[in-house]
Amino acid sequence: MAENPGSSTPEDLLAVAVRIAREAAGTARRMRAEAITDVQTKSTDTDVVTAADKAVERQVVEALRRERPGDGVLGEEYGDSTASTGAVRWILDPIDGTVNYLYGLPQYAVSLAAEVEGTVVAGVVHNAATGDEWTATAGGGAWRAGRRLHGSARTTLDQALVGTGFGYDPARRAHQGAVVAQLITRVRDIRRFGAASLDLCMAAEGSLDAYFEKGLNPWDHAAGGLVATEAGLRVSGLDGRPAGKDMLVAAPPAIFPALHDVLVELDAAGGP
Ligand code: IPD
Ligand code: CA
Ligand code: CA
Repeated sequence: MAENPGSSTPEDLLAVAVRIAREAAGTARRMRAEAITDVQTKSTDTDVVTAADKAVERQVVEALRRERPGDGVLGEEYGDSTASTGAVRWILDPIDGTVNYLYGLPQYAVSLAAEVEGTVVAGVVHNAATGDEWTATAGGGAWRAGRRLHGSARTTLDQALVGTGFGYDPARRAHQGAVVAQLITRVRDIRRFGAASLDLCMAAEGSLDAYFEKGLNPWDHAAGGLVATEAGLRVSGLDGRPAGKDMLVAAPPAIFPALHDVLVELDAAGGP
């Protein structure tokens, strides 16, 4: 804020985010053929990073440095790449859904959010494979292609289509799998699409009734979490905790309590 006086309203920040995310998505798409031949692993053998994850992050960080030199940036691949002197911090997942990217599944996205004094105020999730784009500003609603989003109107958990995801650590996956094995008898069905940011946007538009996941990082949920919140969903952790590493649940108010209670009963936030 300090170095960009008068230009840090949520709407200003969203305009910057949308422009930069679109350019970044173009890079991810163009690079795919060569990028998937340059793949390294991170936390485990299944946690991959391609040349494109790094190139897209560098491109976004450089664009933000040019346009918003006083802001901080937290990116998945390079961490805190800019010393933050202002109040705005950008939170970036250059490619959310890298495994889908690797396999050519059209479910990977650039996720970019702007946080002001610790609160996410603007966010965009741009599916780089399809061009679909979801945006939100704090208090300004959630939108896709000019349509305001309101989440699912479903009211009971047993009729709910619930999205989730799994971490890369096998021990965590074992716990997550055990939770899902129990949950699947209590809901309509489970979906695992492979990109948390897009899962949150699908919950925002009602193509999933709800979503939950343990182990997410800020770059996975900053933008999509705002989109879901602005679509009227409750987005939080368990037992009144904020959404975070332990757990993120996103559900319409009518479904949230039942889903929350089942996740507590199944100790979904527990395990490694
Ligand atoms: C992953 C995806 C996945 C989720 C994992 C994330 P990445 O992000 O969002 O859907 O289940 O928890 O780590 O590695 O593709 O950026
Ligand atoms: Ca991610
Ligand atoms: Ca990523």
